[in-house]
Amino acid sequence: MAFSEQVLEEIQGKSDIVAVIGSYIPLRRAGRNYKANCPFHKEKTPSFMISPAKQIFHCFGCGAGGNVFGFVMKMENIDFPEAVRTLAEKAGVKLPSFTRSQFETSSYAVQIYKTNEMAAAFYRSMLLNTDAGKRAAEYLKGRGIGEEASGKAKLGFAPDEWSGLINYAKGKGLDLAVLERSGLVLPREGGGHYDRFRNKIIFPIFDIKDRVVAFGARVLDNSQPKYINSPETEVYIKSRHLYGFNFSVQAVKDKDLCIVVEGYLDFLVPYQMGVGNIAASLGTSLTDSQARLIKRYTKNVVMLYDGDSAGEAASLRGLDIFLQEGMSVKVAVLPKGLDPDSFIRSKGAAAFDALIGSASDLLEYKLGILSSRHDSRTSSGKAKICSEMLPTIAKIPDAVLKFEFIKRLSEKLQIREEALLSEIKKIKPDRGYELPEELVSGSVSQAAMAEKIIVGLMLDDPDTINEVKGKLKPSDFEDPYTRKIAEEIFASFGDGKSFNPSQLINRLAEPDLARMIAESSSLVEDIKDKQKNLEDCVKWMVNKNAKARLSELQNLIKAAQVMGDDGKVNQLVAEYSGLIKHHKELARR
Ligand code: UTP
Ligand code: MN
Repeated sequence: MAFSEQVLEEIQGKSDIVAVIGSYIPLRRAGRNYKANCPFHKEKTPSFMISPAKQIFHCFGCGAGGNVFGFVMKMENIDFPEAVRTLAEKAGVKLPSFTRSQFETSSYAVQIYKTNEMAAAFYRSMLLNTDAGKRAAEYLKGRGIGEEASGKAKLGFAPDEWSGLINYAKGKGLDLAVLERSGLVLPREGGGHYDRFRNKIIFPIFDIKDRVVAFGARVLDNSQPKYINSPETEVYIKSRHLYGFNFSVQAVKDKDLCIVVEGYLDFLVPYQMGVGNIAASLGTSLTDSQARLIKRYTKNVVMLYDGDSAGEAASLRGLDIFLQEGMSVKVAVLPKGLDPDSFIRSKGAAAFDALIGSASDLLEYKLGILSSRHDSRTSSGKAKICSEMLPTIAKIPDAVLKFEFIKRLSEKLQIREEALLSEIKKIKPDRGYELPEELVSGSVSQAAMAEKIIVGLMLDDPDTINEVKGKLKPSDFEDPYTRKIAEEIFASFGDGKSFNPSQLINRLAEPDLARMIAESSSLVEDIKDKQKNLEDCVKWMVNKNAKARLSELQNLIKAAQVMGDDGKVNQLVAEYSGLIKHHKELARR
């Protein structure tokens, strides 16, 4: 769906970029601008900047950049129309409402959300209203899931048929291609489709905005595999979601703590028994995106994984991930053979609370495990323990906290702090992201830099546009992005007409151009003498282009001489000498 520039500007005018980004991540004032740790890559010192004047953001570390729409798209992992709708809603700007014909032409993401919603309703009615569904309802009851929890989580049942959902969708006039894109049906060899989920209990997976993004499905017996899940789609990147977090996010905020478990029922059963601040990572390995999702609401986490060796390994991995994100993480240990679901059902909610309250921090937990594996009284045992303990401590971004752990480790193992400190210094920090090749090799061309600075300065002060326009043509810009941006600036904003970089981003409607506009704008933020810089860069480019044309002309003249085309030779020589004269003048200025 295309939005008019006016609508975009209206929304933008009511969605200050500082307020919007500030609602996701902590910001710090830095002069006229704001700084933050980039939410899009791992970093310890802030290279993410926001300009309220220009209404743009840019990260010098990973290159992300754009205006408020671009930020919300990236942060929420949604497409442009979705970001516009989200911000419009928050800002109270009315958009034309969503009609059926728009459904067909709307972005895939929106179609998938709607399709998932429809499918969840179908599975739910199968659970409640069919004989086969009764078996599933009995199963859930047997697992201690009450009707209220079942309704809230919209649990369902996929009938034991190849086209149960397909027939229902067809009845609603829905396109099977969208169902396939949603991962709900699979194409048959030789044409046609079949239902992915059959004879299974259905757990819709919601995002933080209560939209159904995917499904998990469990068998009703002990057959394998126990669970199958939706594939990743336009709206579902598995590593970014936590099951149940949409239900628990408020309690997580209120209690300033999130309990992280592994499975669907490990979430549902404690949740319905009153444990409000809980979410499930679904599968054993927690991801850094999941950690960052939690970090938006609390820095405190207790991991509660199964009481077996897989659970222990998962807890150790999770520790590192949360620590790396600068979060405060503890591990609660379940008795062997129990998971959170079976524990709370057999021991009750009070015991569950006590278990969470008794969770161990990094040193207690990991050192406990390592001490049972190595003899902490011998020096070789100590060395082994240190070699596994220090890389984890090294991940803690906060220096004070890091030192605190070093001190405690030193006491526990009876090793001098200095020795531990010198060991930990040898550990290379994870960079977390790859620097662009050009920056690493230092070969980022001067031309590209000059072009960015010129574009940035024109965006900074529209009064300079005419000056640049008199000396450079868009075709003088080598980089296709700066060329396109210069073209648009020259065409629309001469005569000092004032405008905002963020408006230009809307007008060009192209993520790569948005990034370039944000980068160029940010580059010039700290330049002291802007006028002199602009003159230098323009002069440099004019000279460079003149030189390139001169050497080109030399070749053309030679060629014309060989061909014996005197007219052509004269014409080229005239251009050549004219250019030399002009070039000298320019150089003198
Ligand atoms: P578990 O094997 O611990 O299962 O897997 P569970 O959650 O305790 O399941 P119940 O209690 O027997 O019903 C933990 C999580 O790993 C994922 C699921 O998200 C599950 O909740 N998993 C497990 C799969 O995706 N596929 C599987 O076959 C098994
Ligand atoms: Mn279980």
